[in-house]
Amino acid sequence: MNRFGNLINGKWVDSVSGKRFTNINPADSSDVVGEFADSVAADVSAAVDAARSAYRKWRLTPAPRRAEILFRAADLLIARKDDFARDMTREMGKVLKETGGDVQEAIDMTFYIAGEGRRLHGHTAPSELADKAMMSVRVPIGVAGCITPWNFPMAIPSWKVIPALVTGNTVVLKPSPEAPLSSVNFVRALQDAGLPDGVLNLITGTAVEVGATLVDHPDVAIISFTGSTDTGRKINSNAAARLKRVSLEMGGKNAIIIMDDADLQLAVDGAIWGGFGTTGQRCTAASRVLVHEKVHDAFLRDFVTRAKALRVGNGLDPQTEMGPLVSQTQLAKVERYVGIGKEEGAVIECGGNRLTGASLDRGFFYAPTIFSGVQRKMRVAREEIFGPVVSVIRVKNAEEAFDICNDTEYGLSSSIYTRSVNLAFAAMRDLNTGITYINSPTIGAEVHLPFGGTKNTGNGHREGGPTVIDLFTEWKTLYVDFSGRLQKAQID
Ligand code: UN1
Repeated sequence: MNRFGNLINGKWVDSVSGKRFTNINPADSSDVVGEFADSVAADVSAAVDAARSAYRKWRLTPAPRRAEILFRAADLLIARKDDFARDMTREMGKVLKETGGDVQEAIDMTFYIAGEGRRLHGHTAPSELADKAMMSVRVPIGVAGCITPWNFPMAIPSWKVIPALVTGNTVVLKPSPEAPLSSVNFVRALQDAGLPDGVLNLITGTAVEVGATLVDHPDVAIISFTGSTDTGRKINSNAAARLKRVSLEMGGKNAIIIMDDADLQLAVDGAIWGGFGTTGQRCTAASRVLVHEKVHDAFLRDFVTRAKALRVGNGLDPQTEMGPLVSQTQLAKVERYVGIGKEEGAVIECGGNRLTGASLDRGFFYAPTIFSGVQRKMRVAREEIFGPVVSVIRVKNAEEAFDICNDTEYGLSSSIYTRSVNLAFAAMRDLNTGITYINSPTIGAEVHLPFGGTKNTGNGHREGGPTVIDLFTEWKTLYVDFSGRLQKAQID
């Protein structure tokens, strides 16, 4: 049995509670991936103390030197990519090509943000007074608490941890209990690259014990969270009492719009990848497809044919195109929503059932499912399902499509398939989401542009891209008077 502890001040240790939880392979529940520390508040406090003392030196380490360690970590991630991808498929189910992509996203982020070590630019401005210089510079904030989900279990920790570190903060990382091994692997690579003890700490366990303690801890200055809107809302209100900076990246109900002038085959390819990639378990997943009435039937026919043909199975098999859901809980949620869709009067075109038989029996497999005849007010058109379920909605024109696309509490990603330049630009302006794609699906963001959403998807911050540096730094403004006399701004 593989046992994994917490990383506190450079040492791998068990929880003081002595408790552990097991993580199983969602493609085969008889395969135990490992035992992990089921941590309690005292473990979190020890990690925060370690991060707080390491901060004293780390913040004074020149940023280009901090970055050198990160560049070395990126090289280690490259060397270990295949092993890490296999571990990730085993712990959370998505197919090997995608877990390779997840590790690659962590590599990309690490190289990209390590480059910031030689930038971290500030501003200078001329003073209104003689012989006086002024500038503003970025300074780190302190200890960052990073709380991450299971669907991108190395990419998303990298979005948070790497920018936090290059800017001089120290970190306590709390990964999802559904996929802690990828965080263990990620943190080890950073440790092996020479990160000083205490600069990055890892605590595994539940949201209730570990997450909540981190949010409430007076020595944690910033919380960066990716996960459900319900949890994000709680984090925000709990952290408000301490006036903490909080970055939230939460749910989505993303739509692909397919216009009557679209390249229909391209649109089908996009809807399959956007809807069923990662078994629909992306916050950017295309869980709605809004199709112009002129091409609706032709699109639906091909979309259903392609969905039925998807090979579902263990993600470690290179032939597999779609893996299992991550857990029994997610499977039950999908089953519940499919029931709700049926009751609401949506038509099941394919899927709608759990997959069983032979090797599938031991995993959380669900058939790719397409609902047609979906109306905008139905719950399957409005609520995040986080599974392989796509709702197809017929629309009369672009105006109606834009209106339905925006008629949701979320605003992460959107997409339009059209050959019209005018319509593409109107979509880029009018779709109220943080990301809009033209002629590609709602998934596939690259690390070096801002990632995040409007409305209940987030709280205004953007991780990814240069904007993530704003999240992990404060501005400090410096005035240097070299005149040798008292000069009064606004008065002299
Ligand atoms: C998520 O959807 O949960 O943009 C993260 C993408 C990936 C990240 C997705 N690079 O699809």
